[in-house]
Amino acid sequence: MVQFSLPKNSKIRTGKTWPKPDGKNIRKFQIYRWSPDDGENPRVDTYFIDLDKCGPMVLDALIKIKNEIDPTLTFRRSCREGICGSCAMNIDGINTLACIYGLDEVKGDVRIYPLPHMPVIKDLIPDLTHFYAQHASIMPWLETKTNRPAKEWRQSIEDRSKLDGLYECVMCASCSTSCPSYWWNSDKYLGPAALLHAYRWIIDSRDEATGERLDDLEDPFKLYRCHTIMNCAKTCPKGLNPAKAIAEIKKMMVERLV
Ligand code: SF4
Ligand code: FES
Repeated sequence: MVQFSLPKNSKIRTGKTWPKPDGKNIRKFQIYRWSPDDGENPRVDTYFIDLDKCGPMVLDALIKIKNEIDPTLTFRRSCREGICGSCAMNIDGINTLACIYGLDEVKGDVRIYPLPHMPVIKDLIPDLTHFYAQHASIMPWLETKTNRPAKEWRQSIEDRSKLDGLYECVMCASCSTSCPSYWWNSDKYLGPAALLHAYRWIIDSRDEATGERLDDLEDPFKLYRCHTIMNCAKTCPKGLNPAKAIAEIKKMMVERLV
């Protein structure tokens, strides 16, 4: 797993320590807090949870803190089963989904921060506006030119299987925010998530815009800022491999020149 740590000159300060409950299975949580409303620098608040009275996942602990200790703690979540992608955050140095990351996977204190190198809206909520705009830019839909068939766009079982390992992406942004190339060039480099989706449509046998899709990626930054660092594949909570998808696009770029 890829781990990240805060820079030594970080302006994050120590925040409030909430009371420790009685119990035999108490765990300490250190959670990043920042509000746009108080003009203060970010801080890390400390909470204690009795794990004997908490569900098994990191998201269970966050919900317990919000419900029973500190209602001001802010984070995104919806499905609680690794499908919506909304609960992505940095847990114990790893970008992952809080709802499918077990508390037993964390050794020692549980440190929770927002996804790295993204603007923060509040507490654990990153601003994904640019990330979603990049996704939209790769035309994440079936683009066709021939007449619409009477019933459906058909696909062989073999062609459908080429989408395995791609369609499962939940757009959580864990991969892109683990990528140093994306950290430094996210204004121009599309990043692993958007490129994985680009490849998903490029190789869809029903799509009729392959040439345009490849033309659009023929750019020194959009695609070629991937330096195969592989953080994306190591951190993806769905077990996907964006680096491989990016390598396949690069291969198609070369093949169409020969
Ligand atoms: S490839 Fe994995 S880490 Fe990246 S956005 Fe999709 S599900 Fe999240
Ligand atoms: S709450 Fe939906 S992926 Fe975690």
